Amino acid sequence: MVVVSIPDKGIKIENTDEAEKYLSSIGITYERWNTDYSVDETSTQEEILTAYDKEIEELKQNGGYTTADVININGKTPGLDEMLNKFNKEHWHSEDEVRFTISGRGIFHIHPENSPVVAVEVSKGDLLRVPKGTKHWFDLCEDRNIKAIRLFQDKSGWTPYYVPEGVDRKYQPMCFGPAYIRH
Ligand SMILES: [Fe+2]
Repeated sequence: MVVVSIPDKGIKIENTDEAEKYLSSIGITYERWNTDYSVDETSTQEEILTAYDKEIEELKQNGGYTTADVININGKTPGLDEMLNKFNKEHWHSEDEVRFTISGRGIFHIHPENSPVVAVEVSKGDLLRVPKGTKHWFDLCEDRNIKAIRLFQDKSGWTPYYVPEGVDRKYQPMCFGPAYIRH
């Protein structure tokens, strides 16, 4: 279930409808997808993409995405820290970043142009679309695992462009239990 926090204002939104509304006001799409399909952290990429075929096709049509795959990262993933270090610094992409979480958790920080930084913790059933050009960064939670569907307009567009003097260091997150603690 999505949890939205605005650390600078001490605000935390745990109600899904309110979270969706707030994210929409800063241009971020949040959707809650069906979680009744029998897929979990043990499912293969093919099983997951087949189960969510309808949702993926709709999203492809609406957003111009051409490909979908499944990313599976956990504490045993070789080179995990190097991988995370690429994306836990403030950056943007020339295409949307679209993620639907199958299992595990992660936390996106989004830095809109004219409003405070927002932390969005995603878990099973949460779809998040960060539009191209939006500054953001991503971390795993304490349990260090996430399995998610990714959609791409063009995989080559998914290069991180780092923001010099990124503000990410002011918002070091760790997700512990149901909430995350800044430190
Ligand atoms: Fe990114």
